[in-house]
Amino acid sequence: MLAVIKQRLSGLTAGTSIHSRCQRDEMTQMRLKYKPFYDVFERQEGSRVWLEGREMVLLSSNDYLGLTDHPKVIEAGKLALDEWGASPTGARVANGGRAYHSRLEEKLAAFLGREAAHIHSAGYLSCMSAVEAFARKGDLILVDRNVHSCLWSGIRNTEARVEKFSHNCPRSLARALSFEKPETPKLLVFEGIYSMEGHIAPVDEFLEIIEGHNVFTVLDDAHGLGVLGERGQGTARHFGASKKVDIVCGSLSKALASVGGFVAGDRSLVEYLRTHSKQTLFSAAIGPCQAACAEAALDILQEEPFHLERLWSNVARYREFLIGLGLDVWDSETPAVPIVLGDKAKVYYFRKALMEKGVYTTMSIAPAVPPKKDLIRTSISARHTEQDFERIFEAFTYAVKKVL
Ligand SMILES: Cc1ncc(COP(=O)(O)O)c(C=O)c1O
Repeated sequence: MLAVIKQRLSGLTAGTSIHSRCQRDEMTQMRLKYKPFYDVFERQEGSRVWLEGREMVLLSSNDYLGLTDHPKVIEAGKLALDEWGASPTGARVANGGRAYHSRLEEKLAAFLGREAAHIHSAGYLSCMSAVEAFARKGDLILVDRNVHSCLWSGIRNTEARVEKFSHNCPRSLARALSFEKPETPKLLVFEGIYSMEGHIAPVDEFLEIIEGHNVFTVLDDAHGLGVLGERGQGTARHFGASKKVDIVCGSLSKALASVGGFVAGDRSLVEYLRTHSKQTLFSAAIGPCQAACAEAALDILQEEPFHLERLWSNVARYREFLIGLGLDVWDSETPAVPIVLGDKAKVYYFRKALMEKGVYTTMSIAPAVPPKKDLIRTSISARHTEQDFERIFEAFTYAVKKVL
């Protein structure tokens, strides 16, 4: 009898069903009531989007080089659909790879200065697998505490020990290493560019610190590819360290104007991934259209350097303006530029003011960002034009006056 009462009581405190748990959830309630996030644009043309009939400058996309509507990218996607149909309809290990997979992998590897690469249907899968496949029980994972969710997902699926170090802090990494035996196998997991903060990882200092400590490096360069390096080869190249990083992973959905992800490194490592990573073995391959668009974008990076030049001149101009207005850009050095307001309400009203003036941004509030770092997330593209900047400058001037 007592057991039955106990069971009933625990049922009551735990909630009666998953349905009711979801309905009571605070974030779900907020979504239903205010509908923040998941806006639906009716149309897009270059850097402009239309929301509820209003045309806006899009200031939050990761289309850093502005290639999503480049004629060569669109043409490549159409041709691939004609040639291959819509989908490979399965995992490559079960269903066979396709020539467009190998072609993109070879081009990517060559571009990054690596022996081989493997592509997945999402960057999330690539980066998750880049950690999960290589770490095992007995290893130690040293991870920058600000890394993306996909890397945490990979880390949590391993039985390795985990030591977080302070964001972008070589001293903190050195301290974490100093407590470990040099012979313990270790993985250093970090990003090239942090898209929430706009920071570049101090790759040279990290590599110096880990020398002689048996550390395998996994660099997520989702936001560095196409952005850093002479032709956009990424963060490792920016530091002249392409061959010193063991694995580079990332996304095709930012500067490469497509959807999908990649893992690149020595051939033996990529073959190991192909035979050991669940995300690689048991998930459908990237489709022909997306692979072809990324391949075309990769060609454009090499043939048309002016996109990258324009991106950086746009970034310099934008940062200078924001700093001139007295805004805190969290020391961003990249196209990802946060506007830190440090308060949820301010973030909400600032974004609203920008929207009133026709500029679309997104917001990130704690716990997604550290306490007092609530921010408006913005990012600059090579596609932003003179007219876009006029609109952006007017909107920010208005929002600062109205809200701060
Ligand atoms: C640092 C980082 N890694 C990986 C990913 C995942 O890439 P994808 O969107 O292609 O799944 C993202 C996407 O936001 C990212 O910012």
